[in-house]
Amino acid sequence: MKIDNPSRRDMLKSSAATFSVVAAGGIFAAPQAANAALVTNPKPLQIPTLETGRMLDGVRVFDLDMQAGTMGFFDDLNTKTMGINGTFLGPTLRMSAGDTVRMNVTNNLHENTTLHWHGFTLPAISDGGPHQEIEPGATWSPEFKVVNKASTMWYHSHQLHKTAPQVWAGLAGLIRIDDDESTALDLPSTYGVDDIPVVLMDRWFTESGQMPYEPSMHSRMMGMTGNVPLINGTVWPYFEVTTRLVRLRLLNGSNGSIYTLAFSDGRSFDQIGSDGGLLSAPAPMRALRLAPGERAEIVVDMSDSGSVMLQSVASAGGGGGMMRGGGSPAFDFLELRPGGTLAASPQLPATLVELPTASVQGVSKVRKFELQMSGRGPFAEFRINGESMKMSRINEVVEKGVDEIWEVSNASPMPHPFHIHNTQFRILDRNGQAPAAGEQGLKDTVLVNPEERVRILIRFDHYSDPDTPYMYHCHILEHEDAGMMGQFTVV
Ligand code: C2O
Ligand code: CU
Ligand code: CU
Repeated sequence: MKIDNPSRRDMLKSSAATFSVVAAGGIFAAPQAANAALVTNPKPLQIPTLETGRMLDGVRVFDLDMQAGTMGFFDDLNTKTMGINGTFLGPTLRMSAGDTVRMNVTNNLHENTTLHWHGFTLPAISDGGPHQEIEPGATWSPEFKVVNKASTMWYHSHQLHKTAPQVWAGLAGLIRIDDDESTALDLPSTYGVDDIPVVLMDRWFTESGQMPYEPSMHSRMMGMTGNVPLINGTVWPYFEVTTRLVRLRLLNGSNGSIYTLAFSDGRSFDQIGSDGGLLSAPAPMRALRLAPGERAEIVVDMSDSGSVMLQSVASAGGGGGMMRGGGSPAFDFLELRPGGTLAASPQLPATLVELPTASVQGVSKVRKFELQMSGRGPFAEFRINGESMKMSRINEVVEKGVDEIWEVSNASPMPHPFHIHNTQFRILDRNGQAPAAGEQGLKDTVLVNPEERVRILIRFDHYSDPDTPYMYHCHILEHEDAGMMGQFTVV
């Protein structure tokens, strides 16, 4: 989608206005709360702690403590939450390609949980999916080599049937991988200064400031959405910009919201990275659709500019009617507020990394996946190829090191972000059309619209294990928990 005409720009402005009330100070109005008790002043964006781990016999070791606690999202209110090494979300884990990492994950919750390394190529037993449950009081210590490229990955709970409530409560965090190729490029890369982690979520808050996970029938069908946007766990944040170029590492960490991201003045920005790493060249755009699970790295030029708001623009989605979901909500996410004279930034390189062309030459193995929803309300069923997720069923057995085409089609009335573990794939086409520039890089999650058939080129290069499966699933967490998930092994 491109915002290139005045009517679209007007829509941008009015969508912001409908979610705001007039407030004193600042050029942006306060977000309208569901209740008068949910008040807060604009706050500086919280930047998650950057955690580099400790080196132990050549292994980079991270200690992660999954815990319950409370967060002060609003003035004078404490919200019950969960987090990792803190009370909501977790630190940003920084590692380099080629590192061997060990994660000591301790479950200090009163329920079983898991922690999954989303986007990573790694042994199935280290994946942190539903087969690697951690009981209360136990520590799970997977170890794996970082074979992925420089990218923005993330980690989150993947507990069977409980992923949605546990991520909703706060069990998620970012991972930043660097490599030689990315460090050689002159890109903004100072964490928290010109390279900013931006975890986008929304939560439903009650009048007493709680965010219990109580999805309505509608939310179970369409994915759970909220009335308050949270950015790195901050309500109504601003970020004080000190450099001309700012790189934002965007993650849609929401349960069920697809965001159409744009700036309040309709300005153009450059997408430089997708799920699995940098694009071959910056892709200029004015709007970016980001579904749950997806990441995008963008660079925005703040030279000669005042404050600008990163927003999610309301869009209608798949059509009219309750079943036609997948529209994006209108939210004011993050104000970029230039503070004084901006420091010069290096010019954005014209080319970034070299990516092999996604060619289907000689690829003979094709696997088909159909995403299906049927029934309504309590009788709703979520399936892939007619089957709901079953821990004891291996749906697909894939041969290691062989190129395959996976055809993912959507037989339901709403879009689904289809995510595959243990790989970064390439999008070949959507209903025969080549993907947009921002989707031509490495991906682990792809949004499949109603009546769409997306073909991807995929290969599992590294590990094999006939006994432990990986998952593929819809990343709308309510759908995943309801069974829109399958299992595959690599042999
Ligand atoms: Cu982000 Cu199977 O997960
Ligand atoms: Cu994953
Ligand atoms: Cu779905």
